[in-house]
Amino acid sequence: MTEPQHRDHLWGRRDWLTALGWTAISGALLAGTAAFGRLLFRRAPVEAPTQFHAGRPGDYAAGTVSDRFVKTWRVFIVHEQGQLYAIFGRCTHLGCTPRWYSRESKFKCPCHGSGFDTAGVNFEGPAPRPLERARVWLDDAGDLWVDVGQRYSRENWGQPGARLRVVSTKESA
Ligand code: FES
Repeated sequence: MTEPQHRDHLWGRRDWLTALGWTAISGALLAGTAAFGRLLFRRAPVEAPTQFHAGRPGDYAAGTVSDRFVKTWRVFIVHEQGQLYAIFGRCTHLGCTPRWYSRESKFKCPCHGSGFDTAGVNFEGPAPRPLERARVWLDDAGDLWVDVGQRYSRENWGQPGARLRVVSTKESA
């Protein structure tokens, strides 16, 4: 008959190693489950809004260019020849934001000097093509909206969203 083994400690070395092994396995399982859960319930990326309310068409006097949305939306609102349109302020050369110079009636890019007329057509400097326009429309209440996520290059300026016909008030001096 063998004597029962006497243990000095409650936990022997083998117990500690076993516990360590189970802890490692549990940790790995937990991490795997968490990763799988994240994969299953992955949230769609939050997209930045692209549309903004630009007031009423009457806020823009005929013959003017407004830069009130340049800092926030990079958009100039132009009202000329019975049309309202939104020029997206990104130079077609290397992407700087042009400025509007009312005395010279032109947009001028501060980076390399490209110039664009009131319609956004390039006429000087290295810009290879006109500025783009952002979509404009009126809602049911007659408010003006702009969507910078939808833009029109010159070939598409004839499309409805590229401009709005408005009843012109008198041209500004
Ligand atoms: S970025 Fe406008 S001219 Fe170069």
